[in-house]
Formats: sequence, C-alpha cells, structure tokens
Amino acid sequence: MSQIVSPSLLSADFANLQCDLDMINRSEAEWLHIDIMDGVFVPNLSFGPPVLQYVAKGCTKALDVHLMVVNPMNYLEAVKALGAKVMNIHYEACTHLHRAVTQIKDAGMMAGVTLNPSTPVMLLKDIIAELDLVLLMSVNPGFGGQKFIPHTVEKVKELRELIAATGSHALIEVDGGVNVETGKLLAEAGSDVLVAGNAVFKAENPEAVITALREL
Ligand code: DX5
Ligand code: ZN
Repeated sequence: MSQIVSPSLLSADFANLQCDLDMINRSEAEWLHIDIMDGVFVPNLSFGPPVLQYVAKGCTKALDVHLMVVNPMNYLEAVKALGAKVMNIHYEACTHLHRAVTQIKDAGMMAGVTLNPSTPVMLLKDIIAELDLVLLMSVNPGFGGQKFIPHTVEKVKELRELIAATGSHALIEVDGGVNVETGKLLAEAGSDVLVAGNAVFKAENPEAVITALREL
C-alpha cells in the first residue's frame, strides 16, 4: 500500500517559493499541505488567502488545506476559491461539526476533521461515516519541525478499526514530525496520507524523500 504524500508548505523557502513549488510539481507528491493559522487557535500565524492564490497558481498538485483557526467555516468560500481538494477543520474548533462537514462536501471538497494529540479518536464515532478524511496531529499544531508523538501510531490503529467497523471510506492522514522512520510506523499501522514539512524541505534531496515516503 503506497502513501499519498502531502509536503507541508510551511517549511518551504518563501523567498524562493516558485522554486520549491517546481520541485513539488516534479515530485511524486500527490497533494500540497497548506497550514492556515490565526494566532488564536494556535500560538502562531502563517499565511492566508491573498498569498495562497499565488501558491494555487504555481502548483499543479491537489491542495490539502489545514485550518488551524477558530471559526473555520468563516473561510469556506475562500478555501473553495483556491480550488482546494481537501478542507480540514479541527474537531476542537467546531461546535456544529455535522453541519460544517455537510457544508464542506456541498461546496465540492473532501471534508476532513483534524484531531489534536490529546483528542480521542472515539469522539468521531457518530460522524465518521460522513467524513472523507481524518487528520491526526502527531505534534501540537502551530509549528513545523517538532518531535513526533509516538502514541499517534496507536491512534492510527484505533481509527483504522473504527473506519472498518462503520464502513466509512475516510482516509487517515497524519501531520507532524513525519519522516521516513516515523512514516514507516504510521504506514504499517494503516495511514493513507503522510504530511511532511521539515523532512522534505530541509532534506538535501527533497524529491527522493517524497518518493521514499510514498513507497512506505
Ligand atoms: C503543524 C502543521 C504541520 C507542519 C508539519 O502545526 O500542521 O503541517 O507544517 O511540519 P513538520 O513535518 O516539520 O513537523
Ligand atoms: Zn498541517
């Protein structure tokens, strides 16, 4: 089973962005992961739609948007306008999750729900059948380059069982501290999509790392 690789734009070189986008375009990555932060839900800021419209123009891969913001549904139209394939909203930021998931799907995107490291997988039991994707955070969101939290491997296994038991078609994506070593553990546990920021962009040969992650 090969993995979909979603390199995280957060770790790219913003002074030479098109150069990094060209590398992604040439690579075997299928998606590009885009972290939008508001400085409230997470203690950091990143980039928003005005910058991302240029990213969308320069990138041929599917856009996998991860919203680390309060009130994520305020950005539905902006994310749709980027032409995103996936819109990920945090479980912890969404009171009316069922409504939000329905709205994302009605807008023509894959609906993804993201869990922080301390949020149990079982909280998704009553919504999993509606989801296209679950994004498990393997670090506390907000920053690239953090250390992988090993318990995530158990969460992937638990989520795989929940998906099988409910007949859900949701993909399992993991984000934070993913490299070829931690990615191998995740793939064995049943992941489908691996996000990697530093492991790709800080590598001497980023395309080779993408290929290695894909083949796990
Ligand atoms: C963290 C972001 C991640 C981050 C991953 O809050 O959601 O997508 O860019 O970066 P690495 O792979 O370096 O941990
Ligand atoms: Zn992310």
